[in-house]
Amino acid sequence: MSIPMNNVISINDLDRAEIERFLAAAEDIESLSRTEQHNLLQGHVLATLFFEPSTRTRLSFQTAMQRLGGSIINLNKQASSLKKGETAYDTGKVVSGYADIAVVRSPHEGAARMFAENTGVPIINGGDGANQHPTQTLLDLYTIQQAFDGIDELKIGLLGDLKYGRTVHSLAHALSHFDVSLRLISPEQTKMPRQIVDELDNVEETNELEIDNLDVLYATRIQEERFPDRQEYEKVRGAYILDKETVWDMQDDAILMHPLPRVNEITPDVDDLPQAQYFTQARNGVPMRMAIIAELMGVDY
Ligand code: NCD
Repeated sequence: MSIPMNNVISINDLDRAEIERFLAAAEDIESLSRTEQHNLLQGHVLATLFFEPSTRTRLSFQTAMQRLGGSIINLNKQASSLKKGETAYDTGKVVSGYADIAVVRSPHEGAARMFAENTGVPIINGGDGANQHPTQTLLDLYTIQQAFDGIDELKIGLLGDLKYGRTVHSLAHALSHFDVSLRLISPEQTKMPRQIVDELDNVEETNELEIDNLDVLYATRIQEERFPDRQEYEKVRGAYILDKETVWDMQDDAILMHPLPRVNEITPDVDDLPQAQYFTQARNGVPMRMAIIAELMGVDY
């Protein structure tokens, strides 16, 4: 199957049917044998252009491309000509002469779109500032779908830094295509931006940690690096800590997700509880990103 699309820049560019096609594609690609996967993109090159720190997004895209039989080139920001004053724009232009497809992460909102408009290869947004992280959302939805066999009818809580967290911005928008009810749990200072809340039908906002009747709780890190004022960050750091006792109160079949990295939002003793699904979620980055690369490269499988 093939999705006629050149770039993945914003989740807002995808409708429900397109989201569902990515979910199905990840399932299909995961069910292929390693050899079948390896035959799909031999000889092709993926560039990872990360102008901001990353562990999961970069490594899972690199793993995904290698599982597809392709290879990767990675921009090391510290050791590149960016250090000599070269612009990200020039770097992108040059790298698109080497690679067939690129993933871009930047602290600047709109950076991935700028790359898409100026380079000749498909561009995937690996996170642009506090704006969007669409591939994280696709793997988040894949994780929810795998746990519940569907997404409609679920009660989903988003917790923590809903103001600066790009994962929850993309996820909330994507969930507006599904028949879910959303509870947005955050301190006053890190509430979800109004324009996103306005897109949602069945939504409530609170600062109380009410999680006992949720099917999914999606916790996030307070995005320290995006606060203009350190004192504002200090006011909300540690606002919610999910420990074993707290998560114990969730429904038995509920799932606790987190895009990671966690700082102190989830204590390590939660990891053994059946609700804890954040490492499975991180692992799901590989099949979903294989599907995204394969779809953008127009591979049939
Ligand atoms: C997130 C990000 O970079 O936005 N991490 C990720 O990609 N899994 C979340 C975060 O940094 O808090």
